[in-house]
Amino acid sequence: MIGIDLVSTGRAIPGNIITNDDLSKIVDTNDEWITSRTGIRQRNFCKEEKNWNLAYEAASKAIEKAGIAKEEIGLLIVATFTPDYQTPSVSCVLQEKLGLPSGIVAFDINAACSGFLYGLKVAASLIEGQDKPYALVIGSEQISTRLDMTDRNTCVLFGDGAGAAIIKKNDNKKFVGILGSEGNVEALGCEGHGSDKPYVYMDGKKVFKFAVQNITKVAKQVLEEADLTVNDIDYVVCHQANERIIRSVQKFLDIPEEKLYINIYNYGNTSAASIPIVLDEMNEKGLLKARAKVLCVGFGAGFTWGGVLLEV
Ligand code: ACO
Repeated sequence: MIGIDLVSTGRAIPGNIITNDDLSKIVDTNDEWITSRTGIRQRNFCKEEKNWNLAYEAASKAIEKAGIAKEEIGLLIVATFTPDYQTPSVSCVLQEKLGLPSGIVAFDINAACSGFLYGLKVAASLIEGQDKPYALVIGSEQISTRLDMTDRNTCVLFGDGAGAAIIKKNDNKKFVGILGSEGNVEALGCEGHGSDKPYVYMDGKKVFKFAVQNITKVAKQVLEEADLTVNDIDYVVCHQANERIIRSVQKFLDIPEEKLYINIYNYGNTSAASIPIVLDEMNEKGLLKARAKVLCVGFGAGFTWGGVLLEV
């Protein structure tokens, strides 16, 4: 596998903030239950925006920060399970809206919450044979349109948002990506509009157990393949699904508090967008210093999982 540079990042968070107290007026829940079980204090839902609007904003910010011309982007991947259209993909919609050149490779990936990590690994694999130097990888979700707002088991957990990253081939940088999936439909999913199960359904306890076991396992596999230990890693970025899942992984892997970045408090679970949103916040705070090693790990419906080691 070739190395990649994380050139820049961007994010988009829709303006409609929904607090736990707001939700307690809609379903039988309360702030204490939600914060103690998940860590989530608020999330954002789209008002007028569509998925592609979020992806557009995150991508535009990343392109601007990178200071590159759009003509230099040869690959566009959007990870999402909540596209605006069955077809064309969010990527193709975005290609038009962003004015990216005709002839580039543009497609969506659906690996649920592991989607951004799948996107990074696929981009790293494809970027080698590309004549243009940059790839744009985005996680973008409008989950609010797939939530049953009468189901307290699920509606309190998710939020909308997008995160984007521009990457470039660089063989001097370490990159390891390990992906997997299990083939499980019953524990977590969403059949979509017009079906018997149009909204997100979930067996929370099953998902919790799967998440802790598999994130821990894939993190160890990535470290082993990179010939590194947790001591060599500057930051661990977990998919933001539940603070208790992240804390369990922290305990199993013995990750020092200062190496863990958690922002689920403000956004809830934004699925494929959660990891790139974290990366963009860290970037904004100046935490992603040159040569910093970042271990990103996630899991999602499918069940899918992924672990990626990035060197900034
Ligand atoms: N407010 C109040 N009570 C609630 C709520 C709520 N929002 N939701 C559920 N409850 C109740 C249940 O009805 C149940 O009540 P009962 O015991 O009377 O039947 C009780 O709370 C369940 O409580 P716990 O067993 O303590 O719940 P648990 O600790 O398992 O936490 C949770 C539930 C937060 C969902 C947890 O299991 C979890 O986070 N699982 C993982 C979820 C996740 O990561 N999903 C990722 C989806 S990613 C994707 O790919 C789309």
